[in-house]
Amino acid sequence: MKKLFVFLFALLPAIGFAAGGNFALDKANNDIRDHASLQRGAQTFMNYCFGCHATQYQRYERVATDLGIPLDLMRENLMFDSSAAIGDLMTNNIPEKDAAKWFGTAPPDLTLTARVRGVDWLYTYLRSFYEDPSRPFGVNNIIFPSVGMPHALEELQGVPKPVYETTLVDGEEQRVVVGVKADGTGELSQSEYDDAIRDLVNFLEYAGDPVQVEREQMGLWALLFLLVFTGVAFLLYKEYWRDIH
Ligand code: HEC
Repeated sequence: MKKLFVFLFALLPAIGFAAGGNFALDKANNDIRDHASLQRGAQTFMNYCFGCHATQYQRYERVATDLGIPLDLMRENLMFDSSAAIGDLMTNNIPEKDAAKWFGTAPPDLTLTARVRGVDWLYTYLRSFYEDPSRPFGVNNIIFPSVGMPHALEELQGVPKPVYETTLVDGEEQRVVVGVKADGTGELSQSEYDDAIRDLVNFLEYAGDPVQVEREQMGLWALLFLLVFTGVAFLLYKEYWRDIH
C-alpha cells in the first residue's frame, strides 16, 4: 500500500506538467522524419538559443550526420564557438553562477527538455511570450508566468502584444492574458513564425531522442522477422506432424 502511495506521489509532477496550467496547449504537429525541418530548427537553435542554452548530451558531428548536414557547412555556419571541435559535446561557456544572477535562474540544458515538457508545451511556450513592462526583460509568458528568459525570438516575431479577456477568477472579475498578437515589426509573418517554432521544436524533439526514427524502423523489421519466422515455424510444425496425424 505504501509503495502505491509513493508511486502515485511520484506521478504528481508529471500530471502537473501535462496539464500545463489551465491554458490549453497548441499542437506542435512536427515531423521528426522531416530532415529539412530539422535542419532549419538546428539553424534557429544555434543562432538564437545556444548563446544561453547548451545541449551538452549531443555532439556536433552526430547532429550533422543525423540531419544530413555536410560537416564543413556545420563547422562554418552552425558552430560559433571557435575553440570547439566537430567531435565535441555541444556545451557552452556561460558561467552558471553569473547566469543565475542575470536571469534569476540559470538557463537549463535543453537536450532533454522535449521529453520532460513535451513538444506541445514547447511549441506553445515559444509562442506565448508577451510584452509586460513590469518584468525585468519587458516580457512575460502565458504558460510560464514570471519567466526568467527574455524573448529570444522577438526579432523574428515582432513585439508580441497581449490579448486580454475579462473572466471571473475566484468570484472576481479579472483581466487575463489569453493570447498574443505580434505588432508586425518582426521579420516573419504569424504563420511563418509558427512554422519556424515547429521546426525548432522538431529539432529539440530529435535532440531528446536521436535514435527515435531508427528505433521505430528497427521495430518494423523485428515485426517483419517475427511474421516470417512464424510462417517458417508453422511449416516446420506441419512437416513434423505430417506422419503422425
Ligand atoms: C538570454 C538567454 C536566453 C536565450 C537566448 C534563450 N533562453 Fe531559454 N531560458 C533562459 C533562462 C534564464 C531560462 C530559465 C527561466 C526560468 O526558469 O524562469 C530559460 C528557460 C527556457 C525553457 C524552459 C525550460 C524548462 O523546462 O523550464 C525553454 C524550453 C527554453 N528556455 C527554450 C529556449 C529556446 C528554444 C531558445 C531559443 C529560441 C531560448 N530558450 C533562448 C535564457 C535564455
